[in-house]
Amino acid sequence: MKSAHGGLPRDQETTPAAMRDPASRIAAWQIRSGRHELPWQATHDPYPIWLSETMLQQTQANTVIPYYRNFLARFPDVRALAGAPLDAVLQAWAGLGYYARARNLHRCAQAVCDVYGGRFPPNAAGLAELPGIGPSTAAAIAAFAYGERAAILDGNVRRVLARHHALEEDPGTSASTRQLWTWAREWLAQSPLDLDMRAYTQGQMDLGATVCTRTNPDCAHCPLADDCMARIQGRQHELPRARARRQQPQQSCHLLIVQRGTNVLLQRRPERGIWGGLWSLPQFETQDQMADFCPKLPSGTPTPEKLAAFDHVFTHFRLHLQPWLLRVPDAPAPATPSGHAWVSVQTLRDRGMPTPVARLLAGLYPDPT
Ligand code: ADE
Repeated sequence: MKSAHGGLPRDQETTPAAMRDPASRIAAWQIRSGRHELPWQATHDPYPIWLSETMLQQTQANTVIPYYRNFLARFPDVRALAGAPLDAVLQAWAGLGYYARARNLHRCAQAVCDVYGGRFPPNAAGLAELPGIGPSTAAAIAAFAYGERAAILDGNVRRVLARHHALEEDPGTSASTRQLWTWAREWLAQSPLDLDMRAYTQGQMDLGATVCTRTNPDCAHCPLADDCMARIQGRQHELPRARARRQQPQQSCHLLIVQRGTNVLLQRRPERGIWGGLWSLPQFETQDQMADFCPKLPSGTPTPEKLAAFDHVFTHFRLHLQPWLLRVPDAPAPATPSGHAWVSVQTLRDRGMPTPVARLLAGLYPDPT
């Protein structure tokens, strides 16, 4: 919103709070009522901010906090991360899911060191060139680290904007995404040049996470309630519409636990696809494929024992996992198929492993401590 005097922003001191531009109201609300204790808020260093924003892309703040602290203790700066083996990075990430994020993190750290001499690019446009950093994440890092005026559009901000403008369309379409970016940039364009970008950026996230929640939005405490079109129309429970979802595809697989004495056979997952690069159990689409694998193990090997099956849900599909346990004689030591390793049950926890596989093995081989 411009003042009548030469297009300057409205005077914050004389404009009633409810009439200020949305960004100013969000920033003021954040300072008053937003979250201030999140560990990544205590710094303007782009390295920990980039790390936190990457972890927060698909994971809630409370889950991220211990991983963030542990990660920074192991890799205190971008050079430490770039120089670490990928395995160590995947291990520190294990449990957070969406492992492409961890591989991109590692590649990004190497690019920052190789191309930028160990310093992150100084603006959102430069940050968005790096692996794994999309336009919204780049803008968030630039706002938190450098105070740059850059618009963000993450899941929470989409909901806030969609409600405020009473977006009718499915918010998941590319036309809606373009519209939401336009609105996000407009809020910034309408704000005074001295807007506190850190408070505004955090405020949009906090508002979506704590007030303008998907179910039961708390409009009584929202700084945007006065001109929120969804609230004015009494449709805040209805908007934004649920994204049209295709039926979730199902897949199934067999996991083979080959135990030899106190060792278990693990297989490194291919870089591409689910759990890329992590250590997991030998995995097969069919029981026949699993049976074909078994003869490569020592002759006289008994047939595997069927264990309780379970499901694991990914964002885009559900995976039905059928585990089998095969105990093979301790000696002679069988040849290790390529891409596989015998790992002592005592050190299984040191490997970066998919959570459901780690849980399955922890149930079979509980930690003695
Ligand atoms: N989600 C994405 N970025 C976040 C941040 N900086 N704080 C809390 N939640 C977030």
